[in-house]
Amino acid sequence: MCGICASIGSGNQVQNVLRGLKDLEYRGYDSSGIAYLDKGEISLCRSVGQICNLEKKIDEKVCAKVLIGHTRWATHGRVCEENSHPHLSFKKTLAMVHNGIIENFETLKSEMKDVEFRSQTDTEVFANLIERQSGKNVEKLISASKIAKGSFAVAVIFKDEEKIYCAKRKSPLYVAYRKGQVMTASDISAFENKFEYFYILEDDEFAVLSEDEALFFDCNGEKIEKEKKNFEKVEFFDVFPDEKCFMRKEIAEEPIVLKRTFFKYFSEKLISEAVFQELRKYKSFHFIACGTAYHSGLLGAEFLQFFAKKSCSASVASEFRYGFQTIKKDCVYVFVSQSGETADTIACADLVKKKGGKVLCVTNVPYSSLNSLADFILPTFAGKEVAVASTKAYVAQVFTLLTFAGKIAGIDMEDELRKFVLNCKITQFDRSLFKEIYKFKKIFFVGRGQDYVTSLEGALKLKEIAYINCIGIPAGELKHGTLALVDEETLVVVTSTRGDLKEKIENNIQEIRARGGKILLLSQLDHNIDVEYKIKLEENLEWLMPIESIFYLQQLALEFCLEKGLDPDKPRNLAKSVTVE
Ligand code: M6R
Repeated sequence: MCGICASIGSGNQVQNVLRGLKDLEYRGYDSSGIAYLDKGEISLCRSVGQICNLEKKIDEKVCAKVLIGHTRWATHGRVCEENSHPHLSFKKTLAMVHNGIIENFETLKSEMKDVEFRSQTDTEVFANLIERQSGKNVEKLISASKIAKGSFAVAVIFKDEEKIYCAKRKSPLYVAYRKGQVMTASDISAFENKFEYFYILEDDEFAVLSEDEALFFDCNGEKIEKEKKNFEKVEFFDVFPDEKCFMRKEIAEEPIVLKRTFFKYFSEKLISEAVFQELRKYKSFHFIACGTAYHSGLLGAEFLQFFAKKSCSASVASEFRYGFQTIKKDCVYVFVSQSGETADTIACADLVKKKGGKVLCVTNVPYSSLNSLADFILPTFAGKEVAVASTKAYVAQVFTLLTFAGKIAGIDMEDELRKFVLNCKITQFDRSLFKEIYKFKKIFFVGRGQDYVTSLEGALKLKEIAYINCIGIPAGELKHGTLALVDEETLVVVTSTRGDLKEKIENNIQEIRARGGKILLLSQLDHNIDVEYKIKLEENLEWLMPIESIFYLQQLALEFCLEKGLDPDKPRNLAKSVTVE
């Protein structure tokens, strides 16, 4: 993971880089740091924890026209100042920030007997590898990149030159230009809109940045021309700028996200009928993703199976990647990802593509690495999602995949979906109900069909931000093992939105209550059964109920998190983009 941001310009770049790093903090917040040229030497300032700690530590007199910065999610080496980026090479001729993993760093390190390492990181080994190469600075970087294995996006400064050097393989890196300033970062969201245009670095490309130009090179050191991308094409929106808690803000934005998605797919007819026509020819669809995006994929498979009668399946990317898969020519492989930068998901798309399979990407970030592998793209319109726990992106994915299923099936859903998005609102979670259920330390989430997926997602949210050990399971599976855990101190959150499965779920509720378990029932159905706690859902098209129900489960997790005094936006041990395996 990790975020890198570096800037070179005519004035002091400290604030520019700090601002960029704050925009990248979602990628990791174990530690952060900067390096800059100072009277012919390289100076470092690093700090453990969030960027605000670094900000306090930087001397206000620091004035640097060339500056590299980093926000870290620890992979190699514990969280401490020595392992924080930037890393200096042994002879202090260069400093470097890195996002990715150098897989052969142990071997390389063992060959550097003369170097005293100051950290346990793979990055410091890479910095020394560059220092040991000969030639001009760009040649050194290119030669070192040929020896390093794994993934990297790096920004390097050399003490003898007022320039920033960049290299990229498998980790994202962008360069933005405006008169008097050139900046590089892991994500375009780090660029303020004052930049004129930006470039996307491809694998094994290199960039040399100076105050007024960005030059690009291939791995043979040949100069290359790169396409300038326009910022106008990248759409972000920010509707509740004053809300301090991003997760709360992002949940509140969900109705707007849905309206926007509806508008894009129906009013603007973003995807042409010819594309749907082409996709209809395929017999099956296999969804591949991680975490919350995998849950959307599970729903996507259900929707397509039900409406379009396609044969559908889903895999977690880290399993698919090393499984014994056969890539079928009559199957579309659908990759769902908010960031489009998740390492396992990208690796699977790459694998499918190399074996001649069709790749459809459902992503929220237009110029993401995943999209660069796509035969077809279904954009989601969640806008920038900052909180680590995915909320509005999930809702956008589910709605997009439902729309997609309708289009593939040739069913006209427009009126029903319009009605839904126009009336959609987030009802605040009832505080008095929360006070009742807060006492439970053992919580299960159960449901059937699409409600099982909602249960998986509800449990993931609660684990992720409130650190409560809970699971989501199919209601019918309870009696095959998990029921043994149910007692008087157990809360079972039952989601029941499928009318045809009403009695089945009532039987499951009876089984739980007979063992003393307490029930929180989320349903729009008229259940004739006693339960301890109830949330009445709005009546909607059955296939929209996963969106309706997750509004509540996201808020439930948020309430638990806040009550425990935790930070919902930055849960421990996690990062927003999982760009390492
Ligand atoms: O960017 P992606 O959608 O590919 O990310 C996948 C998962 O890492 C992500 O959904 C993760 O599970 C969320 N933090 C869950 O809230």
